[in-house]
Amino acid sequence: MKVLVVGSGGRCHAIVEALSRSPQVEKIYCAPGNAGIAATAECIAIKETAADELCAFARENAIGLTVVGPEVALEAGIADRFKAEGLRIFGPTKSAARIETSKEFAKELMQKYDIPTAAFRTFSDYDEALAYVKAGTLPAVLKYDGLAAGKGVVIAETPEQADEALKDMLLDAKFGQGRVVIEEYLEGPEFSLMCFVNGHEVYPMPAAQDHKRAYDGDKGPNTGGMGAYTELPFIDEADLDYAMNAIMRRTADALVAEGAPFCGVLYGGLMKTPQGIKVIEFNARFGDPETEVVLPRMKSDICSVFCDVADGRAPSIEWHDFATLGIVLASKGYPNSYEKGFVIEGVDTVDGSVYHMGTAVKDGKYVTSGGRVMIVVCKAPTLREAQAKAAAEVAKIGCDNLFHRTDIGDKAFK
Ligand code: AMP
Ligand code: GLY
Repeated sequence: MKVLVVGSGGRCHAIVEALSRSPQVEKIYCAPGNAGIAATAECIAIKETAADELCAFARENAIGLTVVGPEVALEAGIADRFKAEGLRIFGPTKSAARIETSKEFAKELMQKYDIPTAAFRTFSDYDEALAYVKAGTLPAVLKYDGLAAGKGVVIAETPEQADEALKDMLLDAKFGQGRVVIEEYLEGPEFSLMCFVNGHEVYPMPAAQDHKRAYDGDKGPNTGGMGAYTELPFIDEADLDYAMNAIMRRTADALVAEGAPFCGVLYGGLMKTPQGIKVIEFNARFGDPETEVVLPRMKSDICSVFCDVADGRAPSIEWHDFATLGIVLASKGYPNSYEKGFVIEGVDTVDGSVYHMGTAVKDGKYVTSGGRVMIVVCKAPTLREAQAKAAAEVAKIGCDNLFHRTDIGDKAFK
């Protein structure tokens, strides 16, 4: 089978690598891909949001399966387009992807179907929103109602911070003409539970934990994710059962009931609060960097899993029971401005997987070309060993302009 993967980050590199292990996969294309992906797949110069062009490419090249990475492609209606032409695609329709693309839609769905989440209200008026925050308790959680590349959430500790964020979101429309969801501040360890979903059918992957802040000790600004790991000692079987039944299955059922059945990966960003597990957010796709630590654990043929789920058959999914841990190398300055074009040495010497996030090739060498540049993922029988190994392997990568967190996985041992 010929397969097309849509996207360009570390998540897509991990999907491409997993597909390359499948005996059924004869050729992998990636649109647009990146310098690392190019070693395994043929990268084609079509933007991830160009649904019509991608559809034409799939038709003309007899692609048997298309897998979608990023949410912007889903919001552009790529799945609707492929489905209308009878092309197999692994990813939700635009309507089902609202679970990620509209915070308001997601919150109202959770409220209607009794899916545990933080209490909330939605505002379009700046004065009303500010008055609500001032009358409530701090910190206040302010979320822009639309895609904002991970920058649409502000945890305001003071009324001044809340005011500034509301001005950005509602008066200056910094992210677009969206509304704002203001929600209750929750506390507890966060984890990501990704599931393969088709309609009412929900199949979990191992839970993972992302590290969203830029610096050690969860300090600094929010990023696209600085590292992740699996297994999570603070999540037990009972927690997983609850998360599957009260959250993931109920949400899949709710989307069917609303006439927007979901097909693809439903990602629960969950928090284990003293009042039980609650939803922080949903995503309508594989998480990044969670995918890079979860897919290496898949024992089954991922191509069969994608096709079975997309076609509505029950997939057979088995997982290795080792632990995995990944450390992201990012350009100095990220998530704010940073320079590009620094030579990266030592990638081939790493004993583990290196998934490229933002690299290019110049004069035959890898150079930095993005904020997050690559992730080094190691596996081992225990998380402690995986952590030690990843630290040792990351040290083999030489580059003048990269930094990384040194505490990925520490939260598992607290
Ligand atoms: P989101 O984009 O909705 O996942 O939010 C980004 C991050 O903000 C989350 O990973 C949490 O760490 C934090 N966050 C979001 N909502 C809440 C909440 N209600 N209470 C506490 N922290 C939150
Ligand atoms: N790791 C968070 C995300 O993929 O949105």
